[in-house]
Amino acid sequence: GTVPILPGTPSEVWYYRGALAEGPPDTLASIGESYPGPLIRLRRGQRVRARLENRLPEDTTVHWHGLHVPPNVDGQPRLPIKPGESTTVAFDVDDRAGLYWYHPHPHGPNGGRVGFQSYAGLAGPLIIEDETERALDLPGGEQEMVLVLQDRSFAGDNELTFVGGMGSMMRGFLGNRVLVNGRPPETREIGTQPYRLRILNGSNARIYKLAWSDGRPVTVIGTGGGLLAAPQRYPYVTLAPAQRVDLWVDLSEARVGEQLALVSDQYLSGMMGGMGGMGGSRLPAGARFELLPLRVTHRAHDGQPLPEVLDSGLKTPPVTPDTPIRTFDLTMKMMRGFAINGRQFEGTTVADDEVVTLGDTEIWEFVNASMMPHPMHVHGLQFAVIERKRIDRQRGWSELEAGLVDTGQHDTVLVLPGERVRIALTFTDFDGLYLYHCHNMEHEDNGMMRYYRVR
Ligand code: C2O
Ligand code: CU
Ligand code: CU
Repeated sequence: GTVPILPGTPSEVWYYRGALAEGPPDTLASIGESYPGPLIRLRRGQRVRARLENRLPEDTTVHWHGLHVPPNVDGQPRLPIKPGESTTVAFDVDDRAGLYWYHPHPHGPNGGRVGFQSYAGLAGPLIIEDETERALDLPGGEQEMVLVLQDRSFAGDNELTFVGGMGSMMRGFLGNRVLVNGRPPETREIGTQPYRLRILNGSNARIYKLAWSDGRPVTVIGTGGGLLAAPQRYPYVTLAPAQRVDLWVDLSEARVGEQLALVSDQYLSGMMGGMGGMGGSRLPAGARFELLPLRVTHRAHDGQPLPEVLDSGLKTPPVTPDTPIRTFDLTMKMMRGFAINGRQFEGTTVADDEVVTLGDTEIWEFVNASMMPHPMHVHGLQFAVIERKRIDRQRGWSELEAGLVDTGQHDTVLVLPGERVRIALTFTDFDGLYLYHCHNMEHEDNGMMRYYRVR
């Protein structure tokens, strides 16, 4: 199919280039100009037109992850851009200020290519700005860092390699290095002032346990759907694939010469994570490593205090005792990956219990009866996490629980093994087909994805 060109005056037009190069199957022989994709900045209320050129030898799409856009510009697999073709999409930016992202979403008869194409470089961060945020005068310029976390595997000659197959189908791809904005972590020189760290987990499958090397608490000011009502402190932050977090770190009291690092802390990661994987060259799921080493090199005086209130107008969907609950059981399908209510991806086929009504508020509950964590993502909207309950004590993974940021707005929620998580969502403005799926890209590409219909 083709994506219709919508009317409207372009305020931004950009070209989207592929970084996928020729090479043996599942090997990326060279990397294009920008890895990951470039940072796109948009303003709420703006009309966007994007021209998308597919220069890959296979189908692709561009999905605006987290954005409230109509189904036909959502970059869904039912609307692929064929090799050599191009299309223009247009939409109005109607989302709160925050860090979102874009990535491909193709899914053919042999499964999805989200994992491979994102790995190859077709994913990047997208920032939306708005008036509420501007009024806060949060740290900007040098004091704002956008960090895209992705683990990747390198062969002996520094060739970027991707290993799919059965091992990856269960646990998802795990690389042997972690890159920050496409580069190995490097020490950054900073001043004695507050910083805003905007972090996207753009990895295929890796979950990070973000902590400070000196044990100080992690101050969270925002999630994937924008700013929190007020800052919150956590001992560490659990960040699953596709999730974003907005952190505040104040170094005004630091001494020149002091060092501090944002690390991903060790966790035991249940029964699957400790395994080294095929070839033994992978970094275990719960390994400890530095992501952002910082060194205080100068005194600075741009020390605005952390606001006590970030967004007093933050709303949650109107839930009442009568709000209907829709249940999704997350289970393993022997030798075939994972399923949602026993089903896997069937193209645009929508079951009777996957149809919702435009304007309605519902509670969706995800029950994880499998032994792997599943970051569950719903397209087209932001939701609130209203309840998290451990219903099976036996399944472990509790070493990630204290870092789950459930406050604020989200488009992706991590459901740990043995947990039941309830989210509240309202289907507004657009009817038609949207996706919901696990954002472990290998789970998704192997069928842990379905369409739902807003009617
Ligand atoms: Cu990040 Cu279906 O998407
Ligand atoms: Cu999405
Ligand atoms: Cu999953």
